[in-house]
Amino acid sequence: MLKFESVSRVYEDGTRAVDDVSLRVDKGEFCILLGPSGAGKSTLMNMVNGVVVPTSGSVTIGGEKLTRKTRASIQRRVAMIHQQLHLVPRLSVLHNVLCGVLPQVGFWRGLMKLFPFEQQRAACQLLQEVGLEEKHLYRRASALSGGQQQRVAIARAFIAQPEIVLADEPVASLDPAMSRSVLNSLKQAAKHHGATVVCTLHQLEYALEFADRIVALRKGEVFFDGTPAALDASTQADLYELAGPVEATQVAA
Ligand SMILES: Nc1ncnc2c1ncn2[C@@H]1O[C@H](COP(=O)(O)OP(=O)(O)OP(=O)(O)O)[C@@H](O)[C@H]1O
Ligand SMILES: [Mg+2]
Repeated sequence: MLKFESVSRVYEDGTRAVDDVSLRVDKGEFCILLGPSGAGKSTLMNMVNGVVVPTSGSVTIGGEKLTRKTRASIQRRVAMIHQQLHLVPRLSVLHNVLCGVLPQVGFWRGLMKLFPFEQQRAACQLLQEVGLEEKHLYRRASALSGGQQQRVAIARAFIAQPEIVLADEPVASLDPAMSRSVLNSLKQAAKHHGATVVCTLHQLEYALEFADRIVALRKGEVFFDGTPAALDASTQADLYELAGPVEATQVAA
């Protein structure tokens, strides 16, 4: 279980990005952080992998509190999927996925592409799971479409068997059909591997479709926390107004 206890983050310039947020995300839950630009979604999410240190309050993962001492071990239990992909463009699809186990395999062995057979097999299986056909295995990552690249990023996130996967706007640059397909792959992979997902999005439609749990933020505070079914019409209208329609916030792939 992932727990935020009264966490706040005030940046050096005085911006209060997250303001006294308390949340518990259950194991295996697909939790979507929703909210407009500047609401504090990335700040809150980045507290989980230690990239952002709360000004006050604490984050606990599976009973272990995140401190300077525990940060490295906790980071190994958390994987991240970024909006800007962060794939290595010149590397093959397969080796991009295998980059997810570099900390285990070691940098030099990785550089020489000496990945154990078991991990190569796991990478292939993951790529199949997220819907990338075998013919893409040895293509350069840069030759893939945005949606295909995001599938590689998902496979890379799961290969180290993380307890928690953080996805910061994973579909921000994809069209609606591709966004749904990628979110579906992410959700299925999480289910299959028993991982908890915290995913930030702008679009209420996708949150309603995919979330087990929606946490909506506004100006650093929690404005709604519950299942999609618990959203009444007036809160939905407020959220919709905050988030904006899918088509208005999407860029065609
Ligand atoms: N390193 C920083 N230094 C100062 N202010 C920051 C920093 N990072 C974020 N902020 C500010 O904190 C607030 C929350 O930012 P954050 O990136 O968490 O929002 P967000 O909900 O992820 O927005 P977006 O949807 O645009 O990604 C914003 O006002 C932002 O300008
Ligand atoms: Mg953000």
